[in-house]
Order: sequence, then C-alpha cells, then structure tokens
Amino acid sequence: MTPTTDAIDYAKLPKHIAIIMDGNGRWAKERNKDRVYGHHEGVLSVREIVNVSAQIGIQYLTLYAFSTENWNRPKEEVAALMELLVNTIRKEVSDLNKNNVRLCVIGDLESLPLKCQVEMQEAIDLTATNTGLTLILALSYSAKWELVEAIKNIATAVKNNQLSVTEINEELISAHLSTASFPDPELMIRTSGEHRISNFLLYQLAYAELYFTSTHWPDFRKEQYIQAICDYQNRERRFGKTSEQIQTNLTNVDESN
Ligand code: IPE
Ligand code: IPE
Ligand code: MG
Repeated sequence: MTPTTDAIDYAKLPKHIAIIMDGNGRWAKERNKDRVYGHHEGVLSVREIVNVSAQIGIQYLTLYAFSTENWNRPKEEVAALMELLVNTIRKEVSDLNKNNVRLCVIGDLESLPLKCQVEMQEAIDLTATNTGLTLILALSYSAKWELVEAIKNIATAVKNNQLSVTEINEELISAHLSTASFPDPELMIRTSGEHRISNFLLYQLAYAELYFTSTHWPDFRKEQYIQAICDYQNRERRFGKTSEQIQTNLTNVDESN
C-alpha cells in the first residue's frame, strides 16, 4: 500500500530531517541521458520534498546539494551544477516565500562562483523573516572542513583568553559548527543505495536514525518520503538505555496525561 500523509504520527514528527540526495547520475544513465539531465530532474524532487516538508510541519530540512569532494568532478559537470543552482534559486524564491520557507546555507560559500554567492545571499535575505520550514542547503560542505573551522575558532578564542579549556564541552563545539542555530537531525535519509555518510554532518548525526533506500533521487518523491518518515516513527530510540527503560518512561508519560 502506498502511504499518504495520514500514515504519519504527527506527535512523533522529526523536527529536523537531513537528506543525501544521491543517484542523479545513475538515474540519467539508466535512461541513456547525460548526468546533467539527472541533476535537472533532481530539482523536481527537491521542490516536492520541500513542499511536503512545509505542508506536514517539518521544522528543519537539510539537503546535501554539493560536497567539498564534488569539486573533483569533471569541470563541465561542476559548471552545470553551479548554473543549475543559480537558476533554481532565482526561480524558487517566490514559492519559498509563498510557503513561508526560510532559506539558509551551510558550507564554504566563499569557494562558490561569485554569481552563486550573490544569488544565494539575495535568496537568504528575501526569505529571512519566514517562520515556517527552515531549508538548509549544504553547499561546498564537508563535515571535516566544518570541524577544522570550529577547532580553529575555538583554539583562537582560548589563545586570546576569551575562553578557558575547561569551558570546552559538547554544547560549545555544537555552537561553533555551521549548524549552530539548528537542532541535530533525528533522521538522515540517503537515496540511491550507497550506505555511507560521504562527509555529511558527522558530529550532528551522532544519534540520528539512518534510512537508506535504493530509489534514485529523481524518483524520490512524496510517497517515498512519507515511507521514510513512517519507518523512522516505528523505531525505538534508546540513546544507550534499555528497551524496558524506554517503555516504562512511555507508560509514565501516558499515565500522567
Ligand atoms: C547526487 O547525484 C548529486 C550530487 C552529488 C551533486 P550524483 O551526481 O552523485 O549521482 P550518482 O551517484 O553519480 O548516480
Ligand atoms: C554525496 O554524494 C554528496 C551529495 C549528495 C551532494 P556523492 O555522490 O558525491 O558521494 P560519494 O562520492 O558516492 O561518496
Ligand atoms: Mg553520487
């Protein structure tokens, strides 16, 4: 049976979902098209997943759109991706505003072509006061890059006597990551069958539920997304405790209501 939004338990909705949108190239290859065609089709999935997220009340959605390692792809593909990024952002801003979506970006933005930087900043500014879904695009992002930046900033603060070593804790590290103002994702989805993290949100995913599907990104639409959310909702998140402890806790909460 194909799930609809009725299958979602709204009391157990993840606040933050992160997605590694993988498989555009393979999707295109299966259709004897070039990889860029796959990226174009992938944008349609982005649009649908953003709209569904806003509609069902997801608060944060992070999409891995371009990794630091993706700079090593053929230069024609990189150029096409940058072009697609600029055009998509330009086209989508009015819909983002209509859907009350706030756009944010994480990653080494200075490494992007100037045109991309300008377009992204404009879209960020134009959607800054929206109060619905926060859409976070990971662009020229890698978790190792992010951790190096955080450690440099923390070390500088210690060196300048603005921070003592004893003040360094998990919260302080989180506060120095590019995701400082967002909660950690509870659910991470990767499409297209690869079972790896590919340098995505290493610190933030420490306790996320991971969901892998063989569906290529351009085929990942509303139904597949709801399926992933329902799968997440059927899991028991124990955070190191025993199943019995979690069950007792749930019963106590039920009884006090
Ligand atoms: C994801 O699809 C898009 C980006 C990484 C930019 P891929 O381009 O990685 O597609 P495959 O994995 O080669 O099929
Ligand atoms: C990860 O996908 C990056 C993005 C989805 C943007 P890749 O296709 O680049 O990852 P690998 O190379 O399979 O690890
Ligand atoms: Mg890939």
